[in-house]
Amino acid sequence: MKNIVILISGGGSNMAAIVKAAQREDWRGRYGAQIAAVISNKAQAGGLRFAQDHAIATAVLDHTAYASREAFDDALAAQIGAYDSHQQPVLVVLAGFMRILSAGFVDQFKGRLLNIHPSLLPAFPGLHTHQRALDAGCQFVGATVHQVTAELDHGPILEQAVVPVLPGDTADWLAARVLTQEHVIYPRAIARWLAGAV
Ligand code: GAR
Repeated sequence: MKNIVILISGGGSNMAAIVKAAQREDWRGRYGAQIAAVISNKAQAGGLRFAQDHAIATAVLDHTAYASREAFDDALAAQIGAYDSHQQPVLVVLAGFMRILSAGFVDQFKGRLLNIHPSLLPAFPGLHTHQRALDAGCQFVGATVHQVTAELDHGPILEQAVVPVLPGDTADWLAARVLTQEHVIYPRAIARWLAGAV
């Protein structure tokens, strides 16, 4: 069985959408894949409760307890490694995981590390994407699912969703509308990855 480990830092609505899609479309039967665990770097992340309610293993690794980025990433990699097997390397899905990952971590999970970012990459990597798009006068915003490489918010693109900017839009309204599209494209991108179509 191929294990999927989802990393979160907050509300986990993307994680919830992925869990629901996996159940609805039975990724276990179709791809031999299951959501094995949800790991958060924040104990108060709201998404942990959803995972527990869906009988998914959860773990918290508080990054503030580690002396360096590398030390945290090593501990995280070890935790994820518990779901790895030689024949079936784990797929790691970043879903609102608000940590920059070290080059060593990215290299260890190369080709099996996915992220969703709330902009139409390569535009607006980093934070405050919707406000920056509004400030730039963009007429369209969106979200991108991509493979993670050592460069922040770069890497091969799997899926994008485009959302029009409406008159009077605020960053919060845009974020909410984009998030609903994230919930569509992330499960679909993972399914395509599992099917070997990426
Ligand atoms: C999502 O909008 C996701 O794209 C973004 O955080 C939000 C998490 O929401 N991720 C990043 O900004 C990563 N750079 P969620 O916890 O409800 O899924």
